[in-house]
This record gives sequence, structure tokens and C-alpha cells, in this order.
Amino acid sequence: MADWQTKDRPTVVLSRQLPTQVEARAAGRYHLRTNAADTPLDGPALVARCAGADSLVVCPADRVSAATIAALPPSVRILATFSVGTDHIDLEAARTRDLVVTNTPDVLTAATAEIAMLLILGAARRAVEGERLARAPRDANDAWTGWTPTQLLGRQLTGKRLAILGMGRIGRAVAERARAFGMIIHYCNRSRLPPKLECGATYHASADEMLGIADFLTVHCPATAETKGWLTADRIGLMPPGAIVVNTARGAIVDDVAMIEALKTGRLFAAGLDVYDGEPVINPGYQALPNVFLLPHLGSATVETRNAMGFRALDNLDAFFEGREPPDRVV
Ligand code: DGY
Repeated sequence: MADWQTKDRPTVVLSRQLPTQVEARAAGRYHLRTNAADTPLDGPALVARCAGADSLVVCPADRVSAATIAALPPSVRILATFSVGTDHIDLEAARTRDLVVTNTPDVLTAATAEIAMLLILGAARRAVEGERLARAPRDANDAWTGWTPTQLLGRQLTGKRLAILGMGRIGRAVAERARAFGMIIHYCNRSRLPPKLECGATYHASADEMLGIADFLTVHCPATAETKGWLTADRIGLMPPGAIVVNTARGAIVDDVAMIEALKTGRLFAAGLDVYDGEPVINPGYQALPNVFLLPHLGSATVETRNAMGFRALDNLDAFFEGREPPDRVV
């Protein structure tokens, strides 16, 4: 019989409600402290829930600061995030505290690439304006009056150059899908990929140089000290006039003021955004613009992917409590 079956079950705190199948699997093995009301918990509330617990599972919307980590009871030895991103966790503080941190890579790739394609298409084909027009009541001033040759003309994907910033798993999955739409793939990555992974895409060692050909730019790098505020007014100025920007990575990578200005003037034709600096607050400048296709951080929001993320988080906890190295250990 495995160790965990004979000893007291570890106590695991869930910061938010997880998918039913994930909570069911977890309950079979751990004492669970769930958040059935699914209310957001701040640092002190998380710490209070962790009294006497062995592990904490958090999500990208939880801010796990150095102060929160320092205040966690010593019994908490592993923090599993229900996400691939770890920018919401002070990893340095975790290292100092000797707190193991794990994430959920791989399993979000397809879902996030699908959302990137939705944003690319939605931004290019003016989905926001089209939807609004189709929903306007028949007797409204702005009601649809019928097909016209010049109505809501968008940009075609076919034959356009798609610049991918960050050619990891998600970047490559977007490239694969975009190729099927006839797009020509360019990418910038820390290092050049082998031909088998590059699949004919053009590598740019310099992101600024890549921007010069970016009819479309899609962002797939993590938010780090190096990438925060990366898409500045100057960089937007390097892009061809009328380019389209899509971001499914992290809002902090974009300078919102610069992007809103470029969208207002038409320097950028459109943007598709799933992530925002300071979520859940969205810069009202974006909300006011018809040429921005906005989604509320839905990149990984499919039943399949959210279950897979939860199972992956549990695989990490299982390994840890069985004395094995968690497969997705970040710290
Ligand atoms: C992640 O896992 O980091 C994603 O942003 C969640 O959709």
C-alpha cells in the first residue's frame, strides 16, 4: 500500500473552485479545503485558510506576493498553480522560503492557440462591429440596412505575414493553425528552432527587425522583467501601417497607452486581446474602441483543458507527497 494511503491524508487548500472532475479526483486522495462560493481571496485570506494545511493550489488571478509567502504556515510545503504562467507568484520569495512551486505546462497549448486564431480573425474581420450591427433591433437608428459592397471591410489573412513573438509550444501551435489560413510565418525567439520545429518559418534574431514585416503580431512570451511594457509606441511605429496586434500571453507586455493611441489614429488597424495589465480591470480606452476584439482571459477556458490543467496540478501534488520530484517543478 502506498505511503499516502496509510498515513494521514495531506490537506490541500484550493484558492478557487476547480472543475468538478478535478475536485472529485483530489477529494479521493486529500483532505480538501474548497472555495465552493468561488470568491476571490486576498493574501491574508489565503494565509488564514492555510492554517495547518500541507499544500495550496492557486490560480492566475491570485496574487501570491512575497508577504503572502512569508506568512504561510510552515506546514505548507508545496504551492501548485493551476496555470502555466507563474508571474502572479513571487518565485524568489518561494525559493527563499523553500516552498516548492509547480505549474501546468503543455496542456493549454491547443486551447490558447485556438483563442489566438479567434482574436486574429475577430480583429481582422471586424467581428465587434459586425456583431453589433447584426444585433441592433430592426427599428434602431443603427440597424443593419442590408448588404453593401463597402460595408465593414476587414483585412484578409491569406498571404499576410504573421510575426510570432515567442515560438514555444503555444507560438508553434498558432503557426500551425495560421499556415492553414495561408499566412506566412515569421518568428522571434531566444534561440532559433531546429528545421523540424521551424516548419519553414523565417527566424528573426531581433524582435524589432521582425516588427518591420509584421502585418499581424501575436504575442506568446511570458511577462518577465525583460518583456514588461515591451510593445511601446516606438515599436508600434516599426510595424507596417495598419498592422494588427493580438495578445493572449500577458497584458503587461503591452504599453496600453501607446496601443490605444495607435488604434485610435488607425496606425494599427485593430487588436485582439485576451489578457490585460491589472486584470480584471480593463483599460476603458480599449473598451471604447470598435476596432478592439476583447475577451476576458479565456485562452485556456475549455472543459478539456481546464480538466487537464487540474489533473496536471494534482499529478504534481501526488508526486510531491509520494516523495518524488514533481514533474512540473518551477522552484
Ligand atoms: C495560464 O495558465 O497562465 C493562462 O493564462 C490561464 O489561461
